[in-house]
Amino acid sequence: MLMPALIKSPEAIATMREAATIVAGALDMIGAHVKPGVTTAELDALCHRFIEAQGGVAACVGYQGYRHATCISVNQVVCHGVPGPRQLKEGDCLNIDLVAQVRGIHADTSAMFFAGKPGIAAARLARITQEALYLGIREVKPGATLGDVGAAIQQHAARHGVSVVRDFCGHGIGTAMHEEPQVAHFGQRGTGRMLVPGMTFTIEPMLNAGGPQVRVMPDGWTVVTRDRSLSAQWEHTVLVAQGGVEVLTLRASERATFGAMAAAG
Ligand code: MF3
Ligand code: CO
Ligand code: CO
Repeated sequence: MLMPALIKSPEAIATMREAATIVAGALDMIGAHVKPGVTTAELDALCHRFIEAQGGVAACVGYQGYRHATCISVNQVVCHGVPGPRQLKEGDCLNIDLVAQVRGIHADTSAMFFAGKPGIAAARLARITQEALYLGIREVKPGATLGDVGAAIQQHAARHGVSVVRDFCGHGIGTAMHEEPQVAHFGQRGTGRMLVPGMTFTIEPMLNAGGPQVRVMPDGWTVVTRDRSLSAQWEHTVLVAQGGVEVLTLRASERATFGAMAAAG
């Protein structure tokens, strides 16, 4: 089998920017539709149509037998929630995760949303998890290691008394949705693979309000917290750039928040 390159060509990176713009745009679009009464299947259909209207391919469809454009993970669902007839209720918190492909190159991103007004605990967990993602991203630069990324995320979770899921990781991304390297959301500084310009991978921490243990439901996809505590996740596809990091899937609506966070030091 051909091994995907760890370092992407300028052409592949340019194409990944196109795919990334599509998935970022889908998340910017879907927020207005997340409200009590809407079904997760309806949200999935809207994202699917958006990806195709923008000239992308919904890459989750057909991936290992999966049949939807998105994973929608509600409340205690950690990841890989399957869209269906479930209607969102006031206060539900959910992650919408989607992957688009353009000319064979993938981009992958996810974000948290709330149906109506979130509970205090859910809003707090979602915020801490987004901060953890941003702190992980801030470590990305040539010469840093994947251990630096994992350690920053783990430290932020520990400081706030929440746990990091260990059974699922970020991943290299390119001609395949999931490539080497694995990107753990825990680790030790100075260990693991060294980052070099041209690498592209996702960072996608899953943080639980309770313990880190997870369980896969009988459908073979839906991953839940074993103690049924709330879980949150945010995901970006990033490029190791000459001077640092380029967040390929950064949303227009996110630029201000991310800029402020990055500058905070
Ligand atoms: N988007 C998920 C990830 O972050 C993977 C989706 S699995 C699929 O890696 F089956 F839905 F494609
Ligand atoms: Co994803
Ligand atoms: Co991913």
